[in-house]
Amino acid sequence: MKQICVIGVGYVGLVTAACFSDLGNRVIALDISEERIEGLKRNEMPIYEPGLEELVDRNVSAGRLSFTTSYPEAMEKTEFAFIAVGTPSGVDGEADLRHVAAVARTIAEYMRTPLIIINKSTVPVGTGDWLAEIVSSNQARPVPFSVVSCPEFLREGSAISDFMNPHRTVLGSLDPEAAEKVAQLHLPLRAPIMLTDLRTAEMIKYASNAFLATKISFINEIANICEELGADIKEVSVGMGYDKRIGPFFLDAGLGYGGSCFPKDVKALAYMAADKGRHPQLLNAVMDINNDRRPMVVSRLKEMIGELDGCTIGLLGLSFKPNTDDMRDSPSVDVAKSLQEQGAKVRAFDPVAMKVAAPLLPGVEMTPDPYSMAEGCDAVLVITDWNEFKHLDLERIRDLMKQPVLFDGRNIYEPEKLRSLGFNYRGFGRGYNDHMLDAEFEQDVVVAPA
Ligand code: UDX
Repeated sequence: MKQICVIGVGYVGLVTAACFSDLGNRVIALDISEERIEGLKRNEMPIYEPGLEELVDRNVSAGRLSFTTSYPEAMEKTEFAFIAVGTPSGVDGEADLRHVAAVARTIAEYMRTPLIIINKSTVPVGTGDWLAEIVSSNQARPVPFSVVSCPEFLREGSAISDFMNPHRTVLGSLDPEAAEKVAQLHLPLRAPIMLTDLRTAEMIKYASNAFLATKISFINEIANICEELGADIKEVSVGMGYDKRIGPFFLDAGLGYGGSCFPKDVKALAYMAADKGRHPQLLNAVMDINNDRRPMVVSRLKEMIGELDGCTIGLLGLSFKPNTDDMRDSPSVDVAKSLQEQGAKVRAFDPVAMKVAAPLLPGVEMTPDPYSMAEGCDAVLVITDWNEFKHLDLERIRDLMKQPVLFDGRNIYEPEKLRSLGFNYRGFGRGYNDHMLDAEFEQDVVVAPA
C-alpha cells in the first residue's frame, strides 16, 4: 500500500484519487476549496461522472480515501504528490500556470520527506523543469524530490473506465528511478507503460489531443463538401473507418468539439509554436473549422424556417457532450445566444446539465423533459448526442411542435425515418439525403482542370 496525495479535486484529480485508492493505495485528496472538500466528506460529488459517487463512497468507507484542505496533513507521510489543478487558457491562448505554480510553492513549503511530484495537469512543454525550479527555490531546507510528467487521457463521462483500462501510461522524467516508482503504481492497470523524458511526455499529451481535434475538424470539412456534392457523411465515415490506418473513432461530423480540453489544448499548442516563430497552419485551420460549426447551425436553421424573430426554438441537450454536466465551451451557449440575438425564444432540455447550464444561459427556459421542451416550438435543434435522445417518441414530439422542423447538430437520426414521420429534417453533411428534396440539384461531375 503506497501513500499518495492528489492536489486538486476536479475531474482529473478526483477520478485519479478514487481510482488509486480503489487499487489499494492510501490516498489523501486535497483542494483549497473548503466547500468542495466539505461536500466530499458528505459524499457529495462536485461534478457529475458516472460511477464516481459509489467509488468514492466505497474507498472512504474502507479507510483508503480521505479529503482535506490542509497541506501539512496531506504531505505528512506521502511519497507521491499528484498535481491535478486547472490550467485554463490565458489571454492569448497560452496555458495559465498560476495554479500549478501556487501548488509547487506550497508543496515546497510543507514537504518533509523525499517526494515524487507527478504532474497530471496539461501544461506547456518545459513546465516540468520550471516546476522543479520553483520547488527547489521555495524549500525551507533541502529535501530530495523528483518531477515526473504523467499526462491524463481521461474522457469525461467515461473517466473511471479510462483510468482503469488505459490504452497506455506515459511517464516522463529525467530521474529514471522516480519514473520506475511511478510505473509501479500503474502496473495493476496492465497497459503499456512508456518511459520518456519530461518534455516529450508533455508533448505527447498536446499532440494526442490536437490529433483527435484534427480528426473532428477533418470530418467536418468533408461533411461540408458532402453537402455540396450529394454524398452522405455518416456513410463516408463508416467507409473510411474500416481502414485500420484511419480507424472508426472521432469521425462523427456535427457541431464540433467543445469541453475543457480540446479547445484550450489546440490553442495552447498553436501558441507554443507561434511563440517560437513557427506557423502552426494545420492547428489554425482545425480551430477555424471548429469555430464555424456553431454559427452554421443557426444559418442552416434560417434556411429551413426563415427569419427567427418571434420563433420558439428548442434545444435538445446542453452539455458539450453526453454523460457529463460539463458546460465548458459547450456549443449550446453560443447557439442559444445567437438565436436570442435574432429575436427567438429559446427553451432547452438536458438530462443532467440544466442546473450547471442555467446561469450561463440567461433567458433560456429549462423544461422538465424533451416533450415539454418541444411544445409549441417552430424548430428543434439537437445539440448533444445523449443516447436517450435517440429513442424519443418522435411522433409525439412532432405533434407537440408548432411546425415539425428538426436540425440535427449531431446526426443522431436517420433522415429517411424522420422525413417519413413528416419532419422537415436536416443534419450536417447528409448531402444525398438533403438533395433528394431539392428538385433542382443536378448530379453534375466536377472535373479538375488538367
Ligand atoms: C478529451 C480527450 O479525449 C481526453 O483523452 C483528454 O484527456 C481530455 O480531452 P473529453 O474532453 O472528455 O476528453 O471529450 P471527448 O470525448 O474526447 O470529446 C471531445 C469533444 O469532441 C466533444 O465536444 C465531442 O462532442 C466532440 N467529438 C468527439 C466530435 O464532435 N466528433 C467525434 O467524432 C468525437
